[in-house]
Amino acid sequence: MKLDIKEIDIKNLPSHIVIIMDGNGRWAKKNKLDRISGHRQGMKSVKSIITESRKIGIKYLTLYAFSAQNWNRPRPEVNALMELLQFYLIEEGKTLVEKDIRLNAIGRLNSLPKNAYEVLTETMNLTKNCSGMTLTLALSYGGREEIIDAVKQISNLTNISSSDIDEEFFSKFLYTSDIPDPDLLIRTSGEHRISNLLLWQLAYTEIYFTKTLWPDFRKRHLLKAISNYQSRERRFGLTGEQLKKREIL
Ligand code: IPE
Ligand code: IPE
Ligand code: MG
Repeated sequence: MKLDIKEIDIKNLPSHIVIIMDGNGRWAKKNKLDRISGHRQGMKSVKSIITESRKIGIKYLTLYAFSAQNWNRPRPEVNALMELLQFYLIEEGKTLVEKDIRLNAIGRLNSLPKNAYEVLTETMNLTKNCSGMTLTLALSYGGREEIIDAVKQISNLTNISSSDIDEEFFSKFLYTSDIPDPDLLIRTSGEHRISNLLLWQLAYTEIYFTKTLWPDFRKRHLLKAISNYQSRERRFGLTGEQLKKREIL
């Protein structure tokens, strides 16, 4: 069945969607191409999903583009991924402004090559007043690394007692301090794991796995994931009965 935007409930959209864009390598293999061609093809999905998310009215879209562990891939692949990131930002900066999309980034950004880091900060600056959607790229990102970085910052504070530390306090030291926790996580390519993504923030996120490889992922797949999300009951530890009573009140 092909879903149309009319078939999802616009009033019950996930505010924040995060995507683990996986399967570029397998897509390439299937099409008898090299892995880098798979990543290039994956960029088409990136552009399409950013545009569609904005059109649908998603407020926060986060894309897992490069993990802290991905640095261990073969050098030529890492270099190609960094170049693709740079080309994307150079090419799309103006489009992001036109579409009123604010670019944000999370991860150990100072590990990025100088050129990529520069164009990233330039584009974030260029789009800083945009408010239609916040697009966050997770780059050189690891969830454990993020927690360690937060703990390090907290341990450098003076005048702090253990009674000051609660969830709200701790969250302020994460890379995501200015964005809400994700409502929906989508992982493509059939893998059922979160691969070190947003370990703290995913506590109550709904997870949707699809076998579709990232370079094949388009609007209809996104709508299907949203529609599936809308069929779920988010209970946050409560009973279904309690939730029904709350709806009435
Ligand atoms: C996702 O595709 C892109 C990145 C991790 C950068 P992969 O490159 O992981 O593709 P597979 O998992 O090998 O198919
Ligand atoms: C997760 O994909 C990272 C990104 C999509 C950027 P991987 O392909 O690196 O994850 P694993 O190694 O299969 O867990
Ligand atoms: Mg992979």
